[in-house]
Amino acid sequence: MSTTPLNPDSPLLRPLRLGALQLDNRVLMAPLTRNRADADGTPNALQATYYAQRAGAGLIITEGSQPAAIGKGYPNVPGVHNDAQQAGWARIADAVHTEGGRIVVQLMHGGRISHPDTLGGDTPVAPSAVRPAGEVVTPSGLQPFAEPRELRTDELPRVAAEFADAARRAVAAGLDGIELHAANGYLLHQFLTDGSNRRTDAYGGSSENRARFVIEVAEATAAAIGADRVGIRLSPGGAFNDMSESDLQVYPLLARELRRIGLAYVHVIAAPDAEILGELRALWPDRLVLNTGFAQDSERDAVAAILASGVADAVAVGRPFLANPDLIRRWTEGAELNEPDQATFYGGDARGYTDYPSLDEVVAA
Ligand SMILES: Cc1cc2nc3c(=O)[nH]c(=O)nc-3n(C[C@H](O)[C@H](O)[C@H](O)COP(=O)(O)O)c2cc1C
Repeated sequence: MSTTPLNPDSPLLRPLRLGALQLDNRVLMAPLTRNRADADGTPNALQATYYAQRAGAGLIITEGSQPAAIGKGYPNVPGVHNDAQQAGWARIADAVHTEGGRIVVQLMHGGRISHPDTLGGDTPVAPSAVRPAGEVVTPSGLQPFAEPRELRTDELPRVAAEFADAARRAVAAGLDGIELHAANGYLLHQFLTDGSNRRTDAYGGSSENRARFVIEVAEATAAAIGADRVGIRLSPGGAFNDMSESDLQVYPLLARELRRIGLAYVHVIAAPDAEILGELRALWPDRLVLNTGFAQDSERDAVAAILASGVADAVAVGRPFLANPDLIRRWTEGAELNEPDQATFYGGDARGYTDYPSLDEVVAA
């Protein structure tokens, strides 16, 4: 727990430009699925309040949100693929901008991380028909994962176009851009990884082939809204959602191509001393966002040390932002922090969502 005020020269408080995104500080709100959207994926007023409360972040990266109905991974996650959803995002963008913040939506296509009960009976899609081990939350409770349907080669341009359409809707709603979720075992990550990608066409096999679909989605979204409004999240070697990667060589190859396309930023989940992070940093000497994953707590002085060490330009922070709407102020003043309540992470109402007190409310109480 930090109890001393932050040095005003701290790298945490320095402005940063990520493509078209001009940030006031380098502490970003990491994407956090909270399952509070309406059942049909429409973002609601409660979410607008939640995000507006957290507008002090250098950049809010929203919860993972599906670019197409078949990409819905869990109950009550938002979508970005119809007019009502777009209107819901417009209310959120407005609320955050009114508070002086910046916000991009994370486009998360669940791929095989879903279930027919979540998809109105449809079968989840994936690079290959490889069922993940384990269970998934559905509207009817926890269920074993189902075997996904392998996407045909001739379907892939349409899937990429859905990402591009969602990116267009995001910007039309007034959001500042998008982050492609190519991490944590969801569809784009499933393509990158040989454990989940057994394809024999041009999208499977070699690292070049496994990177191809992610590159095409990056190109399609960049063409739709400008590369300088598109970021991407990667989790090299991450095992979440039953992933296994026999080598990480796809990542430097991919990072080089994303740099060529001119994306706004690359967001890496890794330990600060991970070898792969060093490799990616050499390719992205600027505009690299780090999240340390669950390996270590995102604590103020550790985050400042990461920035001072030069391995990243900004750090994304998850659970401390979940529990502290005014985290930047608290870290600046060295104030006490609210503790996150795990029981209310996924789903429910305002409790454990918009009712974490700000410092002013704590002082007044
Ligand atoms: C409740 C919860 C929901 C999450 N949802 C997402 C998500 O939608 N997309 C994503 O990329 N990561 C998601 N994550 C991972 C976080 O972005 C982050 O990597 C993780 O919490 C570790 O960072 P922290 O220690 O700062 O919390 C989630 C984590 C938590 C705790």
